[in-house]
Formats: sequence, structure tokens, C-alpha cells
Amino acid sequence: MAHNELVIENYNTWIKENPGIGIMGYGSEKSQDIRFNMLFKIGDMNERTILDVGCGRGDFAVKAVQRGIKYRKYLGTDIVPKMIEIAKKTNFAKNTEFKVLDILNCSEKLSFDYVVMCGPMNLKTPHTEDIAKKLIKRAFEIAKIGVVFNMTSVFGDVEYRTDHTHYFDPFDILRFCSTMTRNLAFDHTYLPHDFTVFMYKKS
Ligand SMILES: C[S@@+](CC[C@H](N)C(=O)[O-])C[C@H]1O[C@@H](n2cnc3c(N)ncnc32)[C@H](O)[C@@H]1O
Repeated sequence: MAHNELVIENYNTWIKENPGIGIMGYGSEKSQDIRFNMLFKIGDMNERTILDVGCGRGDFAVKAVQRGIKYRKYLGTDIVPKMIEIAKKTNFAKNTEFKVLDILNCSEKLSFDYVVMCGPMNLKTPHTEDIAKKLIKRAFEIAKIGVVFNMTSVFGDVEYRTDHTHYFDPFDILRFCSTMTRNLAFDHTYLPHDFTVFMYKKS
């Protein structure tokens, strides 16, 4: 099966079987919040355009509004149609849109100030490593200011690993990102098994 088919099958099962935040594979709202807090550090999102790749229920947009951020436009994309259906049911701020879209395989011209990716690269398939690098590269092409993303890390404790998760080597990912920009920041302090990378077009 192709990567996207495996992802769709997996999330459809979680949507059917798990309550609340569990449909996205999170153990708790707290761990999602901790990750979002990192993503918001990319820069001031007021009056900016944001592309949220792998938006799930669109919780990042909800949190942005709760923080008082007045973005110019937010587009949440996901390859799982049921996720987008769920996201569309929430009462969002204006200038907010959700779409089933694969940024690696779409004809529309995409250009946004910031591209954020919270967790869309962590599900393990035989193609995860390859797809993740393609997503990072594409996100950086789309971004006018910068890209921020998180990933699960090989530095985490082995006993807390799950079979469905891919664990990335942060050094390998940073080396890959450095082929696109040297304006990089990295944080591995906020959770034991997770890291965030900030990529900027300008220093
Ligand atoms: C762990 S969930 C996180 C959802 C949301 N970003 C959040 O933090 O609340 C990952 C999401 O990424 C989506 N996803 C996985 N692979 C993707 C891809 N290649 N392109 C877009 N979305 C993807 C999944 O369907 C899922 O909704």
C-alpha cells in the first residue's frame, strides 16, 4: 500500500475507535499544547498567512484564536477526508479554511508566510522517512517567512516507544534542513521524545 493509503487507513481506525484527542494519536491535550506552544515560537502570526499541513481537527487554529492571534488567513490541510469533515464542524474564526489536500501532489499554487506541521510525519510506514523529507522541502518552498515542524525523536526513552511511530534522528533532519537554509533553530528540551525545527528564509 502507498504511504497515504496507510495513513488514511490508520487515522480512520483511530477516528472510529478513540475518543476526543485520541483520534489524532495524542495521549493527552497537554502534550498537544506543549507542541503547539513550540510552534507559536516561529514568529508573530498576526496579519500573516498560515498553512497548517496535517491539521487534524484544526486545533492549532482554535489555539491561535484563543491566544488573540489575528491571522490574515489560515488554511488547514489534511490527507484524511474524515479529519477535514471534523475540522469543518468547529466554529472557527473568519479567514479560516480546511481542505483535503496533499501538498506533495497538488496543482494549486501555494504561498504562505508560515507553514506549520504538528505531527503529520510521525506515523510509521515503509516510506515515512522519504515522505517526511519531501514534506519539509515542499513546505520550505511554500513558505515566505518560515517553516516550523515537530517530529518524534530517537533520543527518547526506548521503553516509551510505540510500534506505530517513526523515530527520527534529529542530526539527520537538521543536516537535511541545512541544505535549504542555514537560518535554523532547534529545540529538544520540551518533551523527551520530540523535537522542533524552525527554518527561516532570512536570518
Ligand atoms: C498527530 S495528528 C496531528 C493533527 C494536528 N496537527 C494537531 O496537532 O492537532 C497528524 C495529522 O497529520 C495528518 N497527516 C499525516 N500524513 C499527512 C500528509 N502526508 N499530509 C497531510 N496530512 C497528513 C493526519 O491525517 C493527522 O490528521
